[in-house]
Amino acid sequence: MENEFLNITDKRTKATYDVPFFKGAVRAMDLRKIKTGPDDFGVMSYDPAFLNTASCQSAITFIDGDKGILRYRGYPIDQLADKCTFLEVAYLVLFGELPTHSELKDWTDKITHHTMLHETSKKFLEGFRYDAHPMGMFISTVAALSTVYPEARNVLDPESRKLQIYRLIGKVPTIAAYCYRHSLGYPYVYPDNELSYAENFMNMLWKMVEPKYQANPALARALDILFILHADHEQNCSANVMRSVGSSQADPFVATAAAAAGLSGPLHGGANEEVLKMLDEIGSKDRVKEYVDGVKAGHGKLMGFGHRIYKNYDPRARIIKWAAERVFEVTGRNTRLDIALELERIALEDEYFIKRKLYPNVDFYSGIIYQAMGFKPEIFTVLFAIPRTAGWLAQWQEMIQDPEQKIARPRQIYTGYVVRDVVPLEKREVAAVKGT
Ligand code: CMC
Repeated sequence: MENEFLNITDKRTKATYDVPFFKGAVRAMDLRKIKTGPDDFGVMSYDPAFLNTASCQSAITFIDGDKGILRYRGYPIDQLADKCTFLEVAYLVLFGELPTHSELKDWTDKITHHTMLHETSKKFLEGFRYDAHPMGMFISTVAALSTVYPEARNVLDPESRKLQIYRLIGKVPTIAAYCYRHSLGYPYVYPDNELSYAENFMNMLWKMVEPKYQANPALARALDILFILHADHEQNCSANVMRSVGSSQADPFVATAAAAAGLSGPLHGGANEEVLKMLDEIGSKDRVKEYVDGVKAGHGKLMGFGHRIYKNYDPRARIIKWAAERVFEVTGRNTRLDIALELERIALEDEYFIKRKLYPNVDFYSGIIYQAMGFKPEIFTVLFAIPRTAGWLAQWQEMIQDPEQKIARPRQIYTGYVVRDVVPLEKREVAAVKGT
C-alpha cells in the first residue's frame, strides 16, 4: 500500500501529504488539499498544451510513441490495414469489437442509407466562392447539418446518438466530394449505394458522363487503407476539441465541425497540404540538403516531420510508404516521392533531427499518394477528416458515457491587473496595446 502513494512535503508548511496513484497518474484534484491555510485555494497543476496531463480514460486507441506502436481497441494498425476494410475498422473504433458478417452487413446498410445530403445542403454549398478552401466548405457544411437534424441535440439518448453517427459517417464523403466538385465547377454526383465506402467516394468525386463509375481496385484499396490509418489517434488536438465542445452537450454535427476546424491547422491535419507545398518549393533531389540546412538554421519546419507522441517512426507513415508504391504501379511514379525519400534519408541521418527524435509522420507521404491519385493539395485535409470522423464520434460517445466527465473547463493562472478604475473617455491617454 505504501508504494501506491506519492508522498509530498510542502516546504512552505512542512506538512506532508500522501497523494494516491490512479492508474499510474495522480489526480490533479488531490493536489488541492495542499494548502498554506484555510483561505488558500490549494495547489493547481499548470500544463499549457497538455504536455503531461491525461484528460480522460479511454479504451479506443493505444499509442506507444517510443516504440512506434499504434493499436485500435488492441489490434495492431498493420493487421487492420492488411485484413480489414475502413467500415469494419470504423465499427471497431466506435463499438469496441470487429463486426461479425451479419453485423457488418447491417452496419454497411445503415451507412449507405445515410449517404444522401438534403438538397438544401447543396444550395448551401453553392453559396461558396469558386475558390473557397475545401476545408472551410467542409467544416461549415458539417455544422449546417445541425440545422437539418435538430433532434441531434438529444445527446443523452443512445438511440439518437447512434442515428447521428450513421448520418455523419454516411454523409462526410458526400460533403467532401461536393466540396471538391464545387471547386472544379462540376455538377454534384449522387451516392451509389452499390459501391464500397471508398469506391462510392471516388464515384462522387470523379464520375463524369459514364452510366456507372468503375473505380480502379488498387486505388480504391489504397484509399481505404489511408482511411483506416486516419480513423483515430487518441487525444490529439481535434479529438480534444470534439470532447471539449461535446462536453457542453452541443450536438455532434457542430462538435464534429469544431473538431474538423482543429484538424485544419498546419500543425495538425493541415500538414499534408503543407508537405506538398514544401516538396514543390524544394523542387529537386539535389536541393534537399540546402532546404534541411535552412530548417536547422530556423527557417521554418520540415512539414510532415515530428510528433508530440511519436519519438520513433510513425507506424502509419511506414504503411503509407508501402501503399504509395502500390499506387504508383497504377499512376506512374511521382517525382515528389524521390524528393521525399531523399528528405527522409538526409533528415534521419542528421544530428538535429536525431537529437529531437523527429521522424516522418502520417502526413509526410499521404499527400504524395493523394496527388498521384489526382487530388489537389487543398483537398488533402478533407481526406483526413472523412475517416477521422469515426474517431471523433468514438471519442464523443466515450466522453458522454463516462460518469467522471463534466463540462470541460480548465483553470488559468491570472496574470492581468488586480483591479483599476475606469478613466472617462475624454481623459484617457494612449497606452501600448497588449496582444497585437
Ligand atoms: N521540423 C523542424 N524542427 C522541428 C519539427 C519539424 N517538423 N518539429 C519539431 N521540431 C523541433 C522544435 O523546433 C523543437 O526544437 P527545440 O527543442 O530546439 O526548440 C523540438 O523539435 C521539439 O518540438 P516541439 O514543437 O516542442 O514539439 P511539439 O510536440 O509541440 O510539436 C508538432 C509537434 C507535430 C506540432 C511539430 O513536430 C510540428 O510542427 N511538425 C510539423 C507539422 C506536422 O507535420 N504536423 C503533423 C503532425 S502528425 C498528424 C496530425 O497530427 O495531424
